[in-house]
Amino acid sequence: MQLPAGIPKIRARLAGARAVTVLTGAGISADSGVPTFRGAEGLWRDHRAEELATPEAFARNPRLVWEWYNWRRELIATKIPNAAHHALVELEQRIERFWLITQNVDGLHPAAGSRKLSEIHGNIWKVRCTQCRQVQENRAVPIPMLPLCPACDGLLRPHIVWFGESLDPDDLDRSMAAVSSCEVLLIIGTSGVVYPAASFAALARQAGAFVAEINLDPAPNPQIVDLTIGGRAAEVVPALL
Ligand code: OAD
Repeated sequence: MQLPAGIPKIRARLAGARAVTVLTGAGISADSGVPTFRGAEGLWRDHRAEELATPEAFARNPRLVWEWYNWRRELIATKIPNAAHHALVELEQRIERFWLITQNVDGLHPAAGSRKLSEIHGNIWKVRCTQCRQVQENRAVPIPMLPLCPACDGLLRPHIVWFGESLDPDDLDRSMAAVSSCEVLLIIGTSGVVYPAASFAALARQAGAFVAEINLDPAPNPQIVDLTIGGRAAEVVPALL
């Protein structure tokens, strides 16, 4: 395989950096076989993610929303981390101040061994009680309908940040600090349309970081980045090390 031309530039930046932050989206898991959200593959029974991943959709029809998450759980349960997830674990071990921010809820980064990690949109293998708010790990596939809290009998929901909801303030603070204090920000496999992650490139650049994007199909109006590499995450990311 011929490596894209920008790779040596990113390698050189990474080699000299003490603080590196990485932002990932669905594209990094696409190479493990997890469908992305946007694009033809992102549909489920004619619903778009934006129609189902909302508190209103869950209040209206919790069964439909849980069916969608059960479908996603079934799909993700059979998937394993790919070379890009593993390469980021290696990067975490090499860099003095490293932080990985993922929008993915599939748990493939922790499964690969990433520890310095914020899963800013939550994790599909966790559930939260709508009454007592207790969060628990739950790996049932499928989850029985409708799932109730063992502590208080309240309805359980996925521990996922839905459209219209706020990120966990600790995750947000930690991510903002990592983005605004890094020397290199790598943005891998995200369409960059969902906030606050969509603002991270501009924030990092304002703070003086070198920002590089890796995307199979970079947007025609790229985010504010110094360098874009068009390619598959599982091929490009390991080549950066
Ligand atoms: P999207 O589905 O919006 O974007 C996926 C991006 O990955 C696109 O830009 C693709 O071009 C790119 N891509 C696809 N395959 C790739 C590959 N093999 N290698 C590299 N890049 C590839 O996913 P996100 O940007 O992650 O929210 O979406 C953000 C949020 O919207 C998600 O976290 C989700 C969704 O609603 C929640 O689950 C709360």
